[in-house]
Amino acid sequence: MIRIAFAGKGGSGKSSISGTFARLLARTDRPVLAVDSDPLPGMAYSLGIPVDDRPAPDDVVVEGPEGGPRWVLRPGLDAGGFIDQYAEAGPDGVRYLQFGNSWGHWSTLQRGQHAWSQVVKEMDPNAWNVVGDLPGGTRQAMFGWAKYADVLAIVAEPTPKSIQVAKRLRNITKADWSPDHVVVVANRVSGPEDVRRISDALERPVIGAVPDDPAVTAADKQAVAPLNGGAGPFVDAVAELVTQVESTYDLDIRSSD
Ligand SMILES: Nc1ncnc2c1ncn2[C@@H]1O[C@H](COP(=O)(O)OP(=O)(O)O)[C@@H](O)[C@H]1O
Ligand SMILES: [Mg+2]
Repeated sequence: MIRIAFAGKGGSGKSSISGTFARLLARTDRPVLAVDSDPLPGMAYSLGIPVDDRPAPDDVVVEGPEGGPRWVLRPGLDAGGFIDQYAEAGPDGVRYLQFGNSWGHWSTLQRGQHAWSQVVKEMDPNAWNVVGDLPGGTRQAMFGWAKYADVLAIVAEPTPKSIQVAKRLRNITKADWSPDHVVVVANRVSGPEDVRRISDALERPVIGAVPDDPAVTAADKQAVAPLNGGAGPFVDAVAELVTQVESTYDLDIRSSD
């Protein structure tokens, strides 16, 4: 099972890459859950799922027990049941769960956050490969919103601003919670120079180099997923990234396995 979360500066390409990654992974016959914790939906577009902004009903959560979390999933509804009921079915068999879409109301956001944490914490690790799209910046990654992930992929463009955010995200390895692997994906690169700039600055392995592909921006303007919009070089690079991530797991010798 592959469990990966994409982080990075806003606009760095997290949604485009994570949505495409999820679909390509699903094409290898794996059950894939795409989890979008960005309250501003982006991953839906790159998966090719219509964005509908329909919230999940308030009554999916109830007040938690004394001394426990403030809100919990209602009795009889566990993480698996929640995913069954509320994750949308998308192309290539991907199931898609959207935090901001499920709870668009400020009044219910706190409830939503509790339910969301419970779902990602308690879902059956053997049931789903998970591909996550984190909100831009460092906050959610640092506060453990990606605890489901074994691999944190930091998406960086070859610009000083994007690299600066990536550097801060890299510090997650020093935090209380940190994923097993922190890797870098270079996006919108024009050549090896750009890749080298990113790897030199971040001193981390760059496991994917995604070229700037005008077809991605063109597809975006039509609200079409890169996989449906004729984005060749981009899709090839993300397919290669899937292979690289799979081999990260192959190399990983775990005592518990
Ligand atoms: N490799 C790429 N080539 C061309 N355009 C890209 C590429 N990656 C992302 N984009 C474009 O950049 C913009 C931001 O990408 P997006 O995936 O929404 O970023 P994020 O989710 O990190 O905010 C979008 O318009 C997208 O189409
Ligand atoms: Mg996004």
